[in-house]
Amino acid sequence: MSHSADPRPMTARRHGPLTGEALVPGDKSISHRALILGAMAVGETRITGLLEGQDVLDTARAMRALGAQVTQHGPGEWSVHGVGVGGFSAPDDVIDCGNSGTGVRLIMGAVATTPIAVTFTGDASLSRRPMARVTDPLEQLGARITGREGGRLPITIEGAADPVPLTYRTPVASAQIKSAILLAGLNAPGDTVVIESEPTRDHSERMLAGFGAQIRTETTPDGHRITLKGRPELRPQPVAVPRDPSSAAFPVAAALIVPGSQIRVPGVSRNPTRDGLYVTLLEMGADITFENPREEGGEPVADLLVRHGPLKGVTVPADRAASMIDEFPILSVIASFAEGSTVMNGVSELRVKESDRIDAMARGLEANGVTVEETPDSMTVHGMARVPGGGHAVTHLDHRIAMSFLVLGMATEEPVTIDDAEPITTSFPDFVPLMTRLGAALA
Ligand code: S3P
Repeated sequence: MSHSADPRPMTARRHGPLTGEALVPGDKSISHRALILGAMAVGETRITGLLEGQDVLDTARAMRALGAQVTQHGPGEWSVHGVGVGGFSAPDDVIDCGNSGTGVRLIMGAVATTPIAVTFTGDASLSRRPMARVTDPLEQLGARITGREGGRLPITIEGAADPVPLTYRTPVASAQIKSAILLAGLNAPGDTVVIESEPTRDHSERMLAGFGAQIRTETTPDGHRITLKGRPELRPQPVAVPRDPSSAAFPVAAALIVPGSQIRVPGVSRNPTRDGLYVTLLEMGADITFENPREEGGEPVADLLVRHGPLKGVTVPADRAASMIDEFPILSVIASFAEGSTVMNGVSELRVKESDRIDAMARGLEANGVTVEETPDSMTVHGMARVPGGGHAVTHLDHRIAMSFLVLGMATEEPVTIDDAEPITTSFPDFVPLMTRLGAALA
């Protein structure tokens, strides 16, 4: 739901090493998909480890509004009684996806080929974000779509009664665009094909295959090509959600920059389409070991052991951006403590996330004494031995900006204050108690 809570300013200050175990929440991307595919399967899907952040709770509410039965049985334990592909019913009210770009874009796809009318809204951040990247291909599948100028929410979708299959090349590397088209393609006859120039997170493909859809991925001279056969009967599957590598990035970063720290982060997804931050940190010389590698719920996972140590600046190539798209804010914090400069290339998509993340990080880091250079699609952070801090950061309703600056303040000379910690509940509701248990001082 849209944020109605008052802003909650918070301050992070330096306070000894971080030690212990960080049990980070379930993966946000996989949690959304488990609820949506569960709602499109016939019968009961059992989910364990579901992220109970606001973004995912909003998707659960949306699935109920569309006719699925969604029940919480215990912490992280949920079941979904689905209505089958094409079985959604028209909701009584608008669907409010709150802060969640993934929620709204995937659900728009899921309803686009069922003949019902659905109106979507979101909070101030989501209402600023571009939706035409998803509504354009959904119109090509046969949906009728009207929205605010510039393709912004609120948007009403009248799902296609006679959908046509689509072959679509995504204009930007985006798992949300790809997934919206695949979910729409479930109720279109024949093959729906998505071609992307860089592979993006593949959770939809993995889970669709797990639910019995015929889906194949090929690397062709044309790009990364995903083909889905329409109108399968999706079979419910137990889904064990692994821990979120994007959420793990915050305690990992804190342990890397706070002297003397050593933490363990168990059960984190190491899906190669999400692994770019960890590849980059190893290049920077970070002391991270990946123990006990195994497979859980169709995803590779490992336990991370992270120790503080010296880091050096690196250049992150543009073709790695998709595999770490949510991690650039926290990488820019880590880079502030590295020797030399860190250059992040090919990051223009950061400008249309929950906030303009290049601008938000650059302004907040500058306010804390770090020198940052930006272009439309790159950011360079000049590391320093001692980061002054003492500044205020504006978080623009963006959970990852809020957590990034709180982590910054755990290692700066002077405390760092953020204007609002409330958005953290969208992806990591337990962030403050968890970091406090590791030894951080947040108030
Ligand atoms: C997501 C895809 C990414 C990412 C977002 C989650 C997903 O967005 O930033 O947090 O679950 O598909 P884009 O598809 O816009 O890159």
